[in-house]
Amino acid sequence: METKLVSLDRENIDMTVMEEAAELLRAGELVAFPTETVYGLGGDGLDAAAAQRIYAAKGRPSDNPLIVHIADTDAFSVLAREVPEEAYLLAKRFWPGPLTMILKKSGRVPAATTGGLETVAIRMPSDEIALSLIRTSGIFIAAPSANASGRPSPTKAEHVYEDLQGKIPMILDGGAVTIGLESTIVDLSGEVPLILRPGYITPEMLREILPNVAYDPAILKKTADPTLVAKAPGMKYRHYAPKGNLRIYEGSLDAVVAKIREEAAKKVAEGYSVAILASEETKGYYPEFVVRSVGTRAQEETVAANLFDTLREFDHMGARFIFGECFSREGIGHAIMNRLLKAAGYQMETV
Ligand code: TXA
Ligand code: MG
Repeated sequence: METKLVSLDRENIDMTVMEEAAELLRAGELVAFPTETVYGLGGDGLDAAAAQRIYAAKGRPSDNPLIVHIADTDAFSVLAREVPEEAYLLAKRFWPGPLTMILKKSGRVPAATTGGLETVAIRMPSDEIALSLIRTSGIFIAAPSANASGRPSPTKAEHVYEDLQGKIPMILDGGAVTIGLESTIVDLSGEVPLILRPGYITPEMLREILPNVAYDPAILKKTADPTLVAKAPGMKYRHYAPKGNLRIYEGSLDAVVAKIREEAAKKVAEGYSVAILASEETKGYYPEFVVRSVGTRAQEETVAANLFDTLREFDHMGARFIFGECFSREGIGHAIMNRLLKAAGYQMETV
């Protein structure tokens, strides 16, 4: 199958292209599209066959449920049952935006979309191209991140092309995404609201509406502890991983830099290709090594935006060992460290 990569201008969307994409979706085909978080691989959320196509294209285990993207909260009544008042309040405060809610699913949502679960994940993205695609197609778009399973999520259309070329008919290119990490997932289907995946929307922000919101204990772990199984099926898989062996170092910045320099020098001496994941503030401390700054510590949103692209770049350079600095766990820092640790297979050392 030939994959068409088409650029769209967010401010002035070419509706001929949009109609073509919408028609593919209505026909049960897949279209990749930008959202404000990462690119999604879309298919009809109420069509079990489309869900199967998504799993096949990504090479993803089919017990890992998909997020259904909507453009209007009217969709709650079609997709979910027992919608709590908080869902409407959260929608009013955070949608369109990088928040996904888990609710009890209605009979309309096929088990293939929810990986067999009795709950459904719902999100209203804020990207104009994504919203236009949902509205133009008139369907609810089931969309996981548009990467091949296990690879870093795509933050540019080129990343989608790299992973899914030949497997899907169309990619809508809206340039680089703004946030760069997947949405915060909050589960409203149980007694206590739980955050299943940290993202741009932090617990502090959610507490306004959900005073007792807590993290799923499995996402706070710092090690690959097998006794803590994540409630979001996708969080249990090795994920976001670059091909090289990534190790993270935690501690005072001085100690981290010194340790990374020492470890990198050893691997270079052994003849390996080595790269360092650093920040604007520290990149100058590794003059003799291959180093990439992922963003500035003064504004960790920049780190979030560049993280997955940087991990892919390490693959392109063929880095065999990658030594990474840690980031704060404040605000978006929590989501950054969650993704970084998963990418590292939880290889982290305190120095
Ligand atoms: O920002 C995002 O959320 C992006 C864009 C495209 O919207 N989508 C995304 O989808 O990250 P995906 O499939 O890569 O991640 C969805 C996560 C997985 O960890 C999955 O297990 C979890 O959401 N999930 C989906 N439905 C669920 C459910 N009913 N219960 C628990 N976890 C669920
Ligand atoms: Mg994903």
